Amino acid sequence: METTQTSTTLKNFANDVLTGLSAQPKSLPSRYFYDAKGDRIFQQIMRMPEYYLTNCEFEVFEQQKQQILEAIDPGKKFDLVELGAGDGFKTKVLLRHFLEQNADFEYFPVDISNDVLKHLADDLSQLFPDLNVSVLNYEYFQALKKLNELDDSPKVILFLGSNIGNFTPESVVSFFKELNNTMRQGDMLLSGIDLKKDPGVILEAYNDKTGITREFNLNLLDRINRELEADFIIDNFKHYPIYDPVSGEARSYLISLKEQDVRIGSLNRTFHFERAEPIHMEISKKYSLREIQDLADVTNFKVKRHFTDNRKYFVDSLWVKE
Ligand code: AVJ
Repeated sequence: METTQTSTTLKNFANDVLTGLSAQPKSLPSRYFYDAKGDRIFQQIMRMPEYYLTNCEFEVFEQQKQQILEAIDPGKKFDLVELGAGDGFKTKVLLRHFLEQNADFEYFPVDISNDVLKHLADDLSQLFPDLNVSVLNYEYFQALKKLNELDDSPKVILFLGSNIGNFTPESVVSFFKELNNTMRQGDMLLSGIDLKKDPGVILEAYNDKTGITREFNLNLLDRINRELEADFIIDNFKHYPIYDPVSGEARSYLISLKEQDVRIGSLNRTFHFERAEPIHMEISKKYSLREIQDLADVTNFKVKRHFTDNRKYFVDSLWVKE
């Protein structure tokens, strides 16, 4: 069972790498950033002063936890479901407050990493012995389906940390529509979304001087070397992030510094790179409040309330399924 799981995952990885590097322009999917080493580098990113997103959402929760509770509390037992729970750093602020206020809820962290969930469950049972936690080690939509079979309590779904930024404009609409389909009338969704702002501030967050974000991107080439028997020479690629204030897309590229061939053993293929040829690695899209309203409209949600930080850098947007 374990082995089957592992080999399908490796096969998906190999397939996605093949598709991305065969395309023109070349690309690699950013969801593969998060292997054990990538997880560690991302933890470092969240602690960088330039990466304002984490601090902003933390501030929103610290300062408005009571308003958030009042806005989401259905007045009976509810399921608090977190998609992509990670280490729960910010969520703990809400959990602590909700417990102190005797809110009647159960917490369901969802993550595809079983390691992450084990760690989180241990941590939470230490911190909050009274908290009711059930981990869901599934893909997002599988988890929501499971939960619907399990009980019919109202749901509040958390999708924090600007994770939606990684979706393309087309896929974000289908994601929210599909989410809407799994929800019942009155269920709510709280999404953490990074807002359009001074382009300089945004670019800095993805281009830190210490080179942590650079390392985060290059780790994917290293992962391909390790897991797919490839021979990328990491120093032959340069991390190049850009921000387009019109689309609100921060994009990161790795640029081939010379004409070169890279062999990927597991694919039995060699890929040619022109000098200065880019590989598109990640999109981290920023929204305006207007665009968030439009997104809710086209995906059949009603915007209930916006919780922003003091600088209006970031919003936790609360939507209801009517
Ligand atoms: C975890 C997707 C929200 O796009 O801001 C951080 C990932 N990439 N620095 C983001 C990331 C480069 C992050 N998300």
